[in-house]
Amino acid sequence: LKTSGYPIAIDGPSGSGKSTVSRQVARELGLSYLDTGAMYRAAAWAAQHAGVELTDQPAVTAVVRAMNLDMPLDPDNQKISCEGEDITAAIRAPELSRVVSQVAVNLEVRAELIARQRAIIAAHPRIVVEGRDITSVVAPEAPTKILLTASEETRLARRAREVRGSAAPDALAATRAEVTERDAQDSTVASFLEDRAGVVTIDSSQMSIADVVAAVRTLAQGFGKEQ
Ligand code: DC
Repeated sequence: LKTSGYPIAIDGPSGSGKSTVSRQVARELGLSYLDTGAMYRAAAWAAQHAGVELTDQPAVTAVVRAMNLDMPLDPDNQKISCEGEDITAAIRAPELSRVVSQVAVNLEVRAELIARQRAIIAAHPRIVVEGRDITSVVAPEAPTKILLTASEETRLARRAREVRGSAAPDALAATRAEVTERDAQDSTVASFLEDRAGVVTIDSSQMSIADVVAAVRTLAQGFGKEQ
């Protein structure tokens, strides 16, 4: 009999609402929160900071293994520092978003970051962890595993509002190519959209953030009652 639904593992594509939902669930349940996408972004930042070509896999791997990365676990304070620099804003820059998948496809970088993620989870098991391979690779033993999806139209509209402040036809058209490109890049990174045993899929297309948060809380809190 397991008595807690933690850790909570949440995977999903960009635009699924996974970061907003994960942070809010952590806040409401008083849990830690780990954004693993931010770790891949930090790895790309560290490689660029060291003057290494992102396509030079051995050099990037060496930088990432030595990287001094301080990951925040407080859902209300997501200040990230690397090599003593505050990189919170830098890792969200569009230029970095465009190249981060080059680092995420490096299997040795993945092994290093996965080991760090597992160590964080072991030290802080009352945690919400979000990413692309959390339910399948990083923490398949997590009692609460969720795949958060949304229709392509929904993800496109959310992304247009986020980046362009509007989901009007012009903004949608300008955003479409970016979303398609991101999806294509990410699909080479981790096959997170496959059905897996023990993973509950939540399609957020027709749901508010509050509804999705409530659904995740119900899954985590209901866990263990009948197991
Ligand atoms: O979720 P995000 O946009 O911050 O992710 C940044 C990049 O890292 C994106 O290319 C997907 C990749 N990623 C990954 O490969 N595995 C994870 N667990 C999280 C993110």
